[in-house]
Amino acid sequence: MSTVIKSILSEGKEGEKLVIKGWVRTKRGSKNVSFIALNDGSCLGNLQVVAAVEHFSEEDLKDVTTGACIEVSGALAASQGSGQAVELIAEELKVLGKADPDSFPMQPKKHSMEFLREHAHLRFRTNTMAAVFRIRHNLSFAIHKFFNDRGFYNLHTPIITGSDAEGAGEMFRVTTLPADNPPKTEEGAVNYAEDFFGKETNLTVSGQLEAELGALALGKVYTFGPTFRAENSNTTRHLAEFWMIEPEVAFNDLKDNMDLAEDFLKYCVQYCLDNCQEDLEFLDKRFVDLEKQKPANERSEKGLIERLQEIVSNSFERITYTEAINVLQNSKPYKKKKFKYPVEWGTDLQSEHERYLVEKHFGKPVIITDYPASFKAFYMRLNEDGQTVAAMDILFSGIGEIVGGSQREERLDVLEQKMKEFDIPAEEMYWYLDTRRFGTCVHSGFGLGFERLVQFVTGMGNIRDVIPFPRTPKNAEF
Ligand code: 4AD
Ligand code: MG
Repeated sequence: MSTVIKSILSEGKEGEKLVIKGWVRTKRGSKNVSFIALNDGSCLGNLQVVAAVEHFSEEDLKDVTTGACIEVSGALAASQGSGQAVELIAEELKVLGKADPDSFPMQPKKHSMEFLREHAHLRFRTNTMAAVFRIRHNLSFAIHKFFNDRGFYNLHTPIITGSDAEGAGEMFRVTTLPADNPPKTEEGAVNYAEDFFGKETNLTVSGQLEAELGALALGKVYTFGPTFRAENSNTTRHLAEFWMIEPEVAFNDLKDNMDLAEDFLKYCVQYCLDNCQEDLEFLDKRFVDLEKQKPANERSEKGLIERLQEIVSNSFERITYTEAINVLQNSKPYKKKKFKYPVEWGTDLQSEHERYLVEKHFGKPVIITDYPASFKAFYMRLNEDGQTVAAMDILFSGIGEIVGGSQREERLDVLEQKMKEFDIPAEEMYWYLDTRRFGTCVHSGFGLGFERLVQFVTGMGNIRDVIPFPRTPKNAEF
């Protein structure tokens, strides 16, 4: 097996004989010697391969161009150049896969993010995207580790479902019926009885309702799965297919839920600070450079790593929705009529309001609780005031809502009443209501949008650049 570059760069010894495979980033040099920067994806750094004229003619190296895949054997030597301790003195070199320099798009120069999105199948070969996807992996691993260490069970909830957990109706339909001529009922509606499942089905918008069934037996569960929303929001924060982590815990109330979410986010960020140093330093430089190009009032004064360190070392601000409305109504932008959307009790907060609270007023993450029942989902527990629900949203700077969750309505009669008000047919949701009929208890949970967390940790401005294969309106390449 060939050795990976990450271990060579950190612990390679002079004189060690090696075989190494990877992709050429650059080749430079003179008539006598060529220096090949080789990358194998194991880390940001390249291994410098030295191919001297005694072993290799110009003809031998003609296909060693940017993007080509090569296999090199040789011995490690102390490097003359700065930035690396060792380099590989090549004795044998094979080109495994050529990359025609005239048509290979990922040439060693700065490419715009738009260009990389247009070449999403090859953008893994760039330092930025490779760093982002290594961090994405580390975050995914940290999430499973966090829950496993705390006695949670990972529950796989269905991707094809018959229910709309969020009640927002933004679902992708799953059907095997012919699009041009589906069977019709007498009333002229599509007859799903003749479809594969015998009923109307969709791609899931959330695994929460099923996770609740698990939590009321296994105690602590979490889901980590693909989630689909057909909302036509062409923003830098929305995907039609994203990954969501949804813990659900029996006996937790709203306060326990907030504590869990805050510990969880801090753990994930700390895990990356501890394990992704090289990639974070690289992305920090990129982040600072890009911030410099923004107008002064939109610029982050802090570097990426500094922002991450602040997350782990400060407690999140916790305020109720009613307090948030008060803060906003006493703010400068409100008084100067700078907000585009109205700020009044009973309307949802818009991203301009969230940004003001997080970035200007508190200067740290904010957890907003106890929203009006009117614009939150049916399953949230009604508070004593009869107007608000035990909901919580966590807002991060530059991202907005990163987590949404609540204590769940565990009282059968209140839940049934709520479902009536929301026009949710109780017969179809018998399985959900049964948890309230049989051994109901206080329980809570939340959903973390995985890509929004990856965005925050990597400092990437567009959510399309933190998922390998983004799905957005009019974009489902491959
Ligand atoms: O606030 P949401 O809609 O909450 C739920 O789905 C609940 N069932 C969660 C729960 O309590 N178990 O979504 C949760 C999070 C949001 O805070 C956001 O981070 C992310 O999912 N999210 C999206 N991320 C990317 N693209 C989209 N279109 C998203 N919609 C929500
Ligand atoms: Mg939400």
